[in-house]
Formats: sequence, structure tokens, C-alpha cells
Amino acid sequence: MEKKVYNWGILAPGNIARKFATELQQLDNARVYAVGSRNADRSKEFADAFGAERHYDNYEDLVSDPDVDIIYIASPHGLHAEHALLCLNHQKPVLCEKALALNQNEVDKMMACASKNGVFLMEAFFTPHQPSYKEAKRIIESGELGKVKYIQGWFGFNKSPYDNSLRLMNPKLGGGALLDIGLYPVFDALYFLGEPDHVVAKADFAETGVDQSVSIRFAYPDGVTTSIFASFVAASGVGTDIFCEFGTLRLRRTSAVNQSLVIEKQGSEIKRNSWDDQAVGGMKLEAAEAMKCLDEKRLESEIMPHSMSLSLIKTLDLIRRRAEIKYPERD
Ligand SMILES: NC(=O)c1ccc[n+]([C@@H]2O[C@H](COP(=O)([O-])OP(=O)(O)OC[C@H]3O[C@@H](n4cnc5c(N)ncnc54)[C@H](OP(=O)(O)O)[C@@H]3O)[C@@H](O)[C@H]2O)c1
Repeated sequence: MEKKVYNWGILAPGNIARKFATELQQLDNARVYAVGSRNADRSKEFADAFGAERHYDNYEDLVSDPDVDIIYIASPHGLHAEHALLCLNHQKPVLCEKALALNQNEVDKMMACASKNGVFLMEAFFTPHQPSYKEAKRIIESGELGKVKYIQGWFGFNKSPYDNSLRLMNPKLGGGALLDIGLYPVFDALYFLGEPDHVVAKADFAETGVDQSVSIRFAYPDGVTTSIFASFVAASGVGTDIFCEFGTLRLRRTSAVNQSLVIEKQGSEIKRNSWDDQAVGGMKLEAAEAMKCLDEKRLESEIMPHSMSLSLIKTLDLIRRRAEIKYPERD
């Protein structure tokens, strides 16, 4: 049988949407078909850049286009719930950028809406699709390094001075380090250890009120702990170290396509894997998974299931309560 080619609609053509559309063009069963922006010129410019047939100056027309098969939502996370509900209520399958929404209440509504309409919904979270993470998980589950005892994860950059009008600095749009980048090391802890029993967290705030840095500790039964740090004002790079009884796994990435996994036993490196080939991709793995689910008529992904997104947002809510990180009129 001939492979279906999916017509993708891009909702909100900002920075990450450009990256996503570039990767989508590398898949033979995907087409950048239509784009919706609040601004007609921006929409046309994006359509021209990626060869999209249709461009709209609003989101409603995009989700009403009968020829659009699936929508990628790339608006700021404070608008994801509104935009996902718009798509799902028009029976459009959704791949929605992280963070899926600002809080669990919003995620619950999105999932209930997807279920009521019988429509696919997936958070665009590239970590679990990546070969480095799949390999790390395989090694841990094999037991060859023994049990995980401690995880240390960090994600930081420093592009200061910041323009306070940026999405990143706007608390109403869910700006701040936690939802922008901190959720990656939080996800790592959940991915390798599950939900913690205890959470402590402390934030340092920028003048707009967003968390510019956040430090988090998780505690699990049997003395297992994690330490997580995310920041817009510390150029730490991105990494996760997983300390096990008999060795350590060191995950690193400088971009979605440039990842490595170093395996150490008793303090000595025994293997170094790296994936720096465009073939790995990051976002195109998510897009491919979303289309596979649609081919198989599944409403959620097994790689990034609703339960994982729920676990993540529930934990992020808890961290925000501990660190007193607030989004105005949303909690
Ligand atoms: N997976 C990843 O690696 C990754 C990386 C970066 C960002 N992200 C996520 O992707 C989302 C977008 O991030 P971005 O960096 O692409 O943001 P961005 O460049 O600011 O683009 C966001 C787009 O949203 C639309 N928008 C609608 N209402 C808006 C409002 N009130 N204020 C600002 N923009 C509004 C705008 O498009 P129009 O006005 O044209 O409609 C804008 O271009 C965020 O949720 C972020 O967490 C993911």
C-alpha cells in the first residue's frame, strides 16, 4: 500500500517552527502544507520559505482547512492549551511544543478534549525519541551498572542582557527557566527514576518576575536523590549524569542532533557513543512518531504517552509551589 503523505499545518511560525519545518522537509511522508500566523506577511514569508501551499493570517482558518492532516503548535507555552483546544475541537491531530501547558489543570483539559473528540495529541518533547536516551535506558534496565543511586541534570545558557519583551521573560506566556529548559532535566529524573516522594526547590527571579534560575532536589525511597539546575544566567551547557552502583552514564548534547553517551565502570570510561549525524534529528523523530501513530490510528504515542506528559506537568506544578514560581492569573 502506498504510504500516506501528511499535510502539516504550522500554527505560530516563530523560531522553533522554522527548525521544525526544516526537519519536516527531510521526511518523505510529510509536507509543510499550510501555516497560520497572526500576521499575514509573516505567514506568507514562512510559506514561501518552506514551499507551503496555503498561508493564513489567523489560526482559526488554519485549523478549519479540510486538507490539513495534523497541526504542529509552536506558540509560547502560555497559549498552548488555548491553541490545542482550538485544533482538537476542529478534529485536527496535534503535536504541541513543550511545555504542553502552564499547569496540570490545562493539560487535563487538553487530554479530555482529545479523548472526547477521539483525536491524537502528543507533546513535542524530543528526549525520549533520541538514541542516546534509548541506549541509556536500555543499559539501566539491563542492570549491568546496578541500581541508579543519584542523578544530576543541568541546562543553562547566558544570553544576557535580556530584552524584557521576549517570550522567555514574560510570566504571562509562561516565561522562565523552569518551563523553558528546566523541564528537560526534570524529565530525565522522571524517565530514569519515576516520580519523587519529596521535592525541594528554590528559584532566583528576574526583574519581570520569571525564574531566571531554579535549583531542585528530588528524594526517592532507599536514599536515591537527584539534583537539577536550570538557568538563563549561567552558561552551564546541557548534561545529565546518572550515578549507578557500579558505574556512571554521562549524557551530553550541544544540540538535538549532537549527542553523546559515555559509559564508565568503576570510574573508568569503557564506551563512548556519539550521534552527530543529521540522520538522528530531534524534531523529525517526533514528527515521524506522530505520523506513525496516525497511520496506526492511535490517539497517543507509546514513546511520549499522555501519562508521561501528565507526570511531567504534575512534577513541574509541585516544583513551582516549592519555589514560588507563579504565572499571573493562571494558578
Ligand atoms: N523543542 C525545542 O527544542 C524547543 C526550542 C525552543 C522553543 N520551544 C518551544 O516552542 C514554543 C515557541 O518558542 P519559540 O522560541 O519559537 O518562540 P517565538 O520565536 O517567540 O515564536 C512564538 C510564536 O508564537 C506566536 N504567538 C502567538 N501569540 C503570541 C504572543 N501573545 N506573544 C508572542 N508570540 C505569540 C507568534 O507567531 P505569529 O504571531 O506569527 O502567529 C510567534 O512567532 C515555546 O513553547 C517553547 O517552549 C521548543
